[in-house]
Amino acid sequence: MTENQSKVNENNQCNVCNTVTPFIKELCQTYLPQKDNLISMLNEVQEKFGYIPVEAQKGLSEYLQIPMAEIYGVITFYSRFTLEPKGKYTISVCLGTACFVKGSQKIMDRLTQKLGIEAGQTTEDGLFSIDETRCVGACGLAPVFTVNGEVHGRATVKMLDEVIDQLLAEEKASQ
Ligand code: FES
Repeated sequence: MTENQSKVNENNQCNVCNTVTPFIKELCQTYLPQKDNLISMLNEVQEKFGYIPVEAQKGLSEYLQIPMAEIYGVITFYSRFTLEPKGKYTISVCLGTACFVKGSQKIMDRLTQKLGIEAGQTTEDGLFSIDETRCVGACGLAPVFTVNGEVHGRATVKMLDEVIDQLLAEEKASQ
């Protein structure tokens, strides 16, 4: 810890830092305890862990002086935040207008059927999560789905099947 960082801690009276994960401790050293920093800090937690663990919510609640209920409200409002760990592969189907009129619901139906889970859920083996999104800025390629952010445009049910089968084959080969 640098001298500057420890001063920030002192000045911010960050008394949660010793009781939460080292990562939250780092965040407390990086961000001032201002409510406006909540979204940025949640973004960092989501990126690091793939979800927002309860202990992180508690740490941010104490540090930023924001009630847990309010933090929960923010997490559930923004689709990029999740309360549970995501699978290794997150498949998101765009249900925005352009994709929807081009049949993206069929893609979603096939996806939920093939993986046996609903949007917002993760397969038991931790391999796949399903999300629905509203426009990923690739309307010209509608309908669109993404795998860990990689866009698959002019999607068909057959294409989806092939992508999933390919991922499964790669997983099997790597075991
Ligand atoms: S509506 Fe699907 S990418 Fe824009």
